[in-house]
Amino acid sequence: MDGTRTAAPINLERVRKQYPDGTVAVESLTMDLAAGETTVLIGPSGCGKSTVLRMINRLIEPTGGTIRVDGVEVGGQDAAKLRRSIGYVIQNVGLFPHQTIRTNVGTVPRLLGWPKVRIGERTDELLTLVGLDPERYGSRYPHELSGGQRQRVGVARALAADPVVLLMDEPFSAVDPIVRTRLQDEFRRLQETVRKTVVLVTHDIDEAVRLGDRIAVLSEHAHLQQFAPPAELLAAPANDFVREFVGGDRGIKLLAVTPIPRERLNPIGGLSKAPADRPVVSADATLQEALAVMLREGSNSVVVTSNGTPEGVLTADDIVATLATPGKPAPVVE
Ligand SMILES: Nc1ncnc2c1ncn2[C@@H]1O[C@H](COP(=O)(O)OP(=O)(O)OP(=O)(O)O)[C@@H](O)[C@H]1O
Ligand SMILES: [Mg+2]
Repeated sequence: MDGTRTAAPINLERVRKQYPDGTVAVESLTMDLAAGETTVLIGPSGCGKSTVLRMINRLIEPTGGTIRVDGVEVGGQDAAKLRRSIGYVIQNVGLFPHQTIRTNVGTVPRLLGWPKVRIGERTDELLTLVGLDPERYGSRYPHELSGGQRQRVGVARALAADPVVLLMDEPFSAVDPIVRTRLQDEFRRLQETVRKTVVLVTHDIDEAVRLGDRIAVLSEHAHLQQFAPPAELLAAPANDFVREFVGGDRGIKLLAVTPIPRERLNPIGGLSKAPADRPVVSADATLQEALAVMLREGSNSVVVTSNGTPEGVLTADDIVATLATPGKPAPVVE
């Protein structure tokens, strides 16, 4: 995989979409999406998420404002050409049923006129990257794969021509919860490799927290209620709308995105090795992992180690205290 190609930033400036029947799906949305980050758009049904996404690759034309990808206005570009430079993944994938998996994945490179050999190499590389053995699955047809496998093919196809932007509209919502979790994990690993600018739409706050570098919470007409990293969103919801949206168990969710606070660790008392009778957790773990170890071992503290060397002791009280005093307050938008 070519991980060297830069991802592109996306800038939305007072973007508006009013459909011909008068429906204002997006009133005036302004946001900057950083290159190489995953931005999650979340909000209630009908709030305009898909409309926003589809305006970025011009499947829908905005009726106001400007959208820039890599600093260049998309409105001035050839729509078909633009779409070949932007990967797009939707809920039911939309694979071509009468084409093999290889042919499906090679769609955009073929449109771009790549030589056959290069398309073949690229296709196999991508299938491997998303965890499908090209020898085994490459010549099958979509109906010969499971839903989760088809979803992986959809991601491989979207990445085939190495787009600088990847748009994903509820990509994992059509599969069962277990497969969904696995696909989410795979997506995270994949994104660590490819570092695309990803815009991902979801209804699911847990998915948003797991996958997003930043989360944009939208209300009706795509009003931006808060735009912040997951930990900030959970620790300091900007208003009642966001608070309600992230749910009453946001403290639990926060555990999963909060690293162990090294500055809070208690002295270990001159031990050079972690004592065998106390549970141990690695310093790069989250509070959720630390708490899970405590619960599993029936202990109210864990020894935190870095490369096997004990750094200090974290107690259950420390976890409570950490969540009670979140780092920095979230900026209030609108
Ligand atoms: N072609 C259209 N003509 C008129 N109104 C439309 C059209 N497409 C979408 N809308 C309306 O625009 C609004 C936003 O739709 P959109 O599909 O962007 O919502 P969404 O946030 O993606 O919803 P969901 O979570 O249900 O997918 C809705 O009120 C919808 O009914
Ligand atoms: Mg939608």
